[in-house]
Amino acid sequence: MEYVDLRSDTVTKPTPEMREAMAEAEVGDDVYGDDPTVNHLEELAAEMLGKEAALFVPSGTMGNLIALIVHCQRGDEVIVGNQSHIYLNEAGGMSALGGIQPYPVQNQPDGTLTLDDISASIRTEDVHHPITRLICLENTQNVCGGVPLTPEYIHRVGELARANNLFLHIDGARIFNSATAQNVSVRKLVEPADSVMFCLSKGLASPIGSMVVGTRKFIARAQHIRKMLGGGMRQVGIVAAAGIISLEKMTKRLGDDHARAKKIADGLRQVEGLDVDSPYTNMVYLNISEEVKLNPIQIGERMKQRRVLVDADHTRRLRLVTHYLIDDAAVEKAVSAFREVLN
Ligand SMILES: Cc1ncc(COP(=O)(O)O)c(C=O)c1O
Repeated sequence: MEYVDLRSDTVTKPTPEMREAMAEAEVGDDVYGDDPTVNHLEELAAEMLGKEAALFVPSGTMGNLIALIVHCQRGDEVIVGNQSHIYLNEAGGMSALGGIQPYPVQNQPDGTLTLDDISASIRTEDVHHPITRLICLENTQNVCGGVPLTPEYIHRVGELARANNLFLHIDGARIFNSATAQNVSVRKLVEPADSVMFCLSKGLASPIGSMVVGTRKFIARAQHIRKMLGGGMRQVGIVAAAGIISLEKMTKRLGDDHARAKKIADGLRQVEGLDVDSPYTNMVYLNISEEVKLNPIQIGERMKQRRVLVDADHTRRLRLVTHYLIDDAAVEKAVSAFREVLN
C-alpha cells in the first residue's frame, strides 16, 4: 500500500503528463542557449511574473544564492528574516560562497519583518560598517506557518528599499501558493521586487528545478554566476518540459491543496493532545501537548507503521504539507492514523 507522505511538497513525483512531455522534449545545449524547451520555460516564467527575463536553475538554494551574488559585492550585508530559509537552511552559502554577511531581523508571527526593524537594520555610512545592499522577503513564509505576505506589505518594503537605494529579492519558493491563497496575481505580488526565485519542484510537482526572474541585465549576470556555481546544464529541456506543465497546469490546482490542509486541520482538532494552527496555504502546523506520553519520534514511527509519513524530529511542533498526491482518502487516512496513535 502507498504511503501518505505529508513530510513536504518536495516529495511530489512528476505527473504522467510530465513524464510524457519529458520523453518527447526537444532539447539542445542550454549552456549555448540552444535548448528550445528551456527557452520556452524561461519566456513563460518571465511573462507570468511580469519581469523581463528568467533563468532555469537546478534548485531553489542555488537560485537564491545566484540572486544574492548578483546583487551584492563581497563584504556587503543582506537583511533577512531570522526564520527565513535563506538564513536557516541554505548552508551559509551567502557567506561561504558570496562573501556576503546576513543581518537577521526577527520574523513576526505573520511572516513579515516590520518596516521599523528593517529601517533600523540599514547601516549608516561609516568606514567601520558593511554596506547594506539588499532586503530579502520569503513568500509564503514557511516557518511562520506557510503564511502569505500581502501585496500591500511587499509594496511598502519595496518603497523602503528604493528610498534607501537597496535591492529587494523575494524567495518565492511557494509564490504561487501565496497568490492562490490571496486570490491575487503573482505579478502583483512580485511587482516591487528586483529579483524573485520560485520553485517548480515543490507543490508544482516538477522533479527538478527553480526559476530566477528579473531584468535582462540581472539575468545575464545570473547566467554567469550559475555557470560559476556549476549549474550550467546541457540537454536540460528534458527537465524543463515538466516545468512548463508546472506553470501551465499545476499552478491552477493549488487551491485543492489549501482546502485539504484545512480538512486535515479540522480533523486533527478532534484528536486529543494536539493543538492545531489554522493553515494559510498548504502547511498545517500543530503542537503535541505535554500530556501526550509518546515523544515526537515515537509518534513519527507509529504513524509510519500506519503508512503515513510525517517529518517528526525532537521538537513537539510538527508540520504537515499537502500536495497533489494527497487526495481526500489520504486526508482521512492521515487523520485516523493520528487518532489511533494518540489514543
Ligand atoms: C522557502 C524556501 N526557499 C528555498 C528553498 C530551497 O529550495 P531547494 O530545496 O530546491 O534548494 C526551500 C526548500 O524547501 C524553501 O522552503
